[in-house]
Amino acid sequence: MTKSARLEMKEHITSTEKKQLYVNQMFATIAPRYNLVTSLLSYGRDKRWKRQLVELARIEPQHEILDLACGTGDITFMLAEKLTHGRVIGVDISAAMLEIARQKKRQLGLKTIEFESGDIMHLAFSESCFDRITVGYGLRNVPDLSKLLEEIFRLLKPGGRFLSLDFGKPPNRVYRAVYLEYLTVVGSALGWILHGNADIYRYIPESLKLYPAQQGVKALMDAMGFVDTGYTCYLGGAIAINYGTK
Ligand SMILES: C[S@@+](CC[C@H](N)C(=O)[O-])C[C@H]1O[C@@H](n2cnc3c(N)ncnc32)[C@H](O)[C@@H]1O
Repeated sequence: MTKSARLEMKEHITSTEKKQLYVNQMFATIAPRYNLVTSLLSYGRDKRWKRQLVELARIEPQHEILDLACGTGDITFMLAEKLTHGRVIGVDISAAMLEIARQKKRQLGLKTIEFESGDIMHLAFSESCFDRITVGYGLRNVPDLSKLLEEIFRLLKPGGRFLSLDFGKPPNRVYRAVYLEYLTVVGSALGWILHGNADIYRYIPESLKLYPAQQGVKALMDAMGFVDTGYTCYLGGAIAINYGTK
């Protein structure tokens, strides 16, 4: 991404057609430093929130699980720890992110995990085949959130649960404004230091502004027929886990 990417970012992420292109470029660039940046931006708390998602998922040893936008596989590996004869499939569109996940899988020699390259907006799994579907920091990045939620609903078995961890929007307006500003300043600084490009992590607050966040995701899930929907917030709503059952 070039210096003109600042304007381009806004142009791309507000367009259903162009957003995926921007997201793909971005993750290809940041993949080698993704785990470091996630840890820095969350002050080391990210792994705890991911563990919390896995606990809320109430995994059973035989479950068939789909981890969408699995990236370097943090959540996928945590899910796999809970399985004995079930299986977790991690799907991601970024070859660079998946390569890191696959490297870790080779080191650990785990048999209950599969990583697949693919676009979560165009999944080819058959209806009602997963007990659990999870996604970490993924809903905010897709070009059509309603379409993805519909697809998740289709893929879940009746009684299956869906859980999503992502940045949230704090309900307190002042805190929300400070938080978005904080993400902009820290994101810009990290972007310059690590990639010579301030825009690269400024994507986080910009995409968050366009994302309906925990309240909006819950409303969409309710409208689609999910039951027992809700969300758990961290840091006053700055981070949230949405969940619901088919
Ligand atoms: C912020 S990372 C999250 C990675 C991982 N879930 C985690 O929690 O650490 C977002 C991931 O979504 C992936 N992604 C974005 N759009 C996608 C799409 N349409 N299909 C599949 N993966 C996608 C990116 O390649 C990236 O790896």
